[in-house]
Amino acid sequence: MEDQKKENQTAEENLSAYEKAAQEGIDPRCIPQRLDGPVPEHDEIVYPNYPKSDHESWKFLYERQMKLLPGRACNEYMEGTKVLKLSPDKIPFLKDLSHVFLKTTGWKVARVPGLIHEQNFFEMLRRRVFPSTDYIRGKEELDYTPAPDLFHDIFGHMPLLTNKAFASFYQKFGEAAFKAEGKNRTKLETFHWFTVEFGLINNPEGRRIYGAGILSSLKEVEHSLSDKVVVKPFDPEKIVVQQYDVWHLQPILFAIDSFEQLEKGFDKWCKENGLLN
Ligand SMILES: [Fe+2]
Repeated sequence: MEDQKKENQTAEENLSAYEKAAQEGIDPRCIPQRLDGPVPEHDEIVYPNYPKSDHESWKFLYERQMKLLPGRACNEYMEGTKVLKLSPDKIPFLKDLSHVFLKTTGWKVARVPGLIHEQNFFEMLRRRVFPSTDYIRGKEELDYTPAPDLFHDIFGHMPLLTNKAFASFYQKFGEAAFKAEGKNRTKLETFHWFTVEFGLINNPEGRRIYGAGILSSLKEVEHSLSDKVVVKPFDPEKIVVQQYDVWHLQPILFAIDSFEQLEKGFDKWCKENGLLN
């Protein structure tokens, strides 16, 4: 009996974080992994040998989402999709996108194996490097996947990285978050959630979406602009303490007036909290 218990205990200790998560019902892809060495950046990135079905998934997701975005996604995002020459025909090559960023905003792309540890993530952002996956969700997960894939990373995040004000804000975010500890770290993660992932913006034509978590999600696009959501004005003090739930449609969002406002407001909050000089 005791021996059995001991055996079970040892087996338990030998499980990787991924296996433990799977046992507890958490999708292991949602556990951030710490990088144990350098990852390919910019010209070092190679194009995977995608099966035909992966290109079909990209085309399906791209066309379905693009139908929803005019009049809903912000002008700066739509402009970015043109600058990057995104098309439904084939999965974009991270290296090509990296070259466009280098010319427009000085950013580059790194290819990462999945959700990475926050310290790795912030360290890249502060160097103007955007970590991206290069695999796409399976056919059975086209409507929803809990973990990042290339559709979220490329289609959701990358168009805005061609915008100077946003790109400048995001570098500062990496700088501040890399330094932040304890409560401040949590506050900055919350700030990231309500801006980079779930942000809204007041364009001259009306309220639009800029958050990647919304832009790459089938349900959030319509939900985020519906009357089911309470939209609050941009205020870093309020954003950093706002509760959120990653598993459900978002009931509360924040709207900025411009990316300049986002950058200035963030900069001011960080300076007041000793996170930027
Ligand atoms: Fe994201």
